[in-house]
Amino acid sequence: MYKDEMIKVCEQLKNKKEVIILGIESSCDETSIAIVKNGREVLSNVISSQIEIHTRFGGVVPEVASRNHIEAINNVLNEALEQAKLKITDVDAIAVTYGAGLIGALMVGVSFAKSLAFALNKPLIAVNHIKGHISANYIEHKDLIPPFICLIVSGGHTAIVEVESYVKLNLIGTTQDDAIGEAFDKVARVIGLGYPGGPKIDAYAKQGKNNIKFAKDSLKNTFNSSFSGLKTAVINYVHTLNQKGKELPIEDICCSFQTEAVDGLVEKSLRACRKFGYKKICLAGGVSANSYLREKMTQRGKQEGIEVYAPSLKLCTDNAGMIASLGYFNLINNVGISDVDLDAVSNIDI
Ligand code: KG4
Ligand code: ZN
Repeated sequence: MYKDEMIKVCEQLKNKKEVIILGIESSCDETSIAIVKNGREVLSNVISSQIEIHTRFGGVVPEVASRNHIEAINNVLNEALEQAKLKITDVDAIAVTYGAGLIGALMVGVSFAKSLAFALNKPLIAVNHIKGHISANYIEHKDLIPPFICLIVSGGHTAIVEVESYVKLNLIGTTQDDAIGEAFDKVARVIGLGYPGGPKIDAYAKQGKNNIKFAKDSLKNTFNSSFSGLKTAVINYVHTLNQKGKELPIEDICCSFQTEAVDGLVEKSLRACRKFGYKKICLAGGVSANSYLREKMTQRGKQEGIEVYAPSLKLCTDNAGMIASLGYFNLINNVGISDVDLDAVSNIDI
């Protein structure tokens, strides 16, 4: 009943000049709520990070993350409305990340979104978090429209996709084992840099040299990738030096690992552009904040005559702005319009 009524409301919204979407994101350790107009204009994007809490444990503790989402979410909503200078009744629809992510953390955002949508009698739009990362590019680059190739690199995913439309992706290549962000975080932990590892490796790599050969890319001629061999090679290298009582060349390890992890993905993405006939590539996901990846892709894109897009740093990592943005594109394309029995899902395909 609710959903049938909401499908009609969404039809009417398609004729509205300004559609205001409230987006909710709670898939990992950021509680975020954003208000976005017509999928591109951010009126507010409030992010309450739990990084300090999880740093003590060396990584995200799922149970702790869920509890902190519950504590933060109401204040984050009030702050988002205040910054946008809007009342909750001004919002046209509620978009929420329903997966992929930590199940308990997702459930907080999904339950909150369902209650809001039902109480306000507004549409509830389910958003796939991984696809949401791509939408950060629509906010950043106002005239960017699909189709294009996208390299998605996050803590949970690594994929090269063809973005056929705002709502349709075709998977070209993916990781056979670990996600790239997972490998960054693991390597950082092994060399004692702590959590979150990605930004720390990025910073140390700037002072180091690419002078340690860790592993060869066995999937070089495919669009797939693998990071577990590289990760294990770093771990073995570190153990050997530790056993010999030698000091770890932290900066060189970071630089050599980062170069190996990034270079192959850049070349595979550009090869995908050539093969499928695209002149545009976007970066998406937390690891797209990596300064070496951004530089390398920009430089190689220039050489190949391919335009490279990336979100600003704040939009690379988890935020609700990207969820509200994709929520809008989902709504106008009849995707994800949900009933109040919407469930959180920990694993979903791209
Ligand atoms: O997209 P995201 O915020 O969350 C997921 O959806 O997984 O990505 C988080 C990942 C973490 O592994 C983090 O270490 C990594 O992104 N990351 C980076 C950088 N900033 C965040 N990795 C490398 N260099 C960075 N500057
Ligand atoms: Zn993410």
